[in-house]
Amino acid sequence: MLVDTHQKQIQNIFAKYPDKRSAVMALLYVAQEEYGWITPEAETEIAKLCEIDPTQVHSITGFYTMYREAPKGKYWLQVCTDLSCALKGAEPFYKELLAYLNVENGDTTPDNMFTVEHVTCLAACDKAPMLQCNFHYVESLDMEKMKGLIEQWRKEASAGNGKATASADKPSKAASKKA
Ligand code: FES
Repeated sequence: MLVDTHQKQIQNIFAKYPDKRSAVMALLYVAQEEYGWITPEAETEIAKLCEIDPTQVHSITGFYTMYREAPKGKYWLQVCTDLSCALKGAEPFYKELLAYLNVENGDTTPDNMFTVEHVTCLAACDKAPMLQCNFHYVESLDMEKMKGLIEQWRKEASAGNGKATASADKPSKAASKKA
């Protein structure tokens, strides 16, 4: 239970908001950090903490791309293929990436290293093709750069120190809705 493992953090989150329901999104981040994805049990717990219905929590989880609804790979690659990025080549880039990793949209590679999916605007339209990897932007991509990053991330992970952020350009603050 999050209340057992993150009691202080939860108290600090609630202290920031005038009413409990406003803390839902912050608590979802806590759950995701703890479990790697938003489990149904976590949604139920958060609903209880915020004194709202679990379906309301689930609707938030389902709306925003920053919440994982299923276990994902170590590196969660979210490629923006929205209009502005599409005009700068995001679609063919995304297709090439899927083919390179031999997965379909939303899939995870068999080694559980990469989950790949396309998302809507991440507010970095001028740097397309771009993606966020575990909430860090990687911008101005082409497949050559992407292959180099994939190789680097595989090496980092096999060395046991892969945090999936070292090679990214900057942290993402974007909230993107699911397509
Ligand atoms: S359209 Fe891709 S970041 Fe805005």
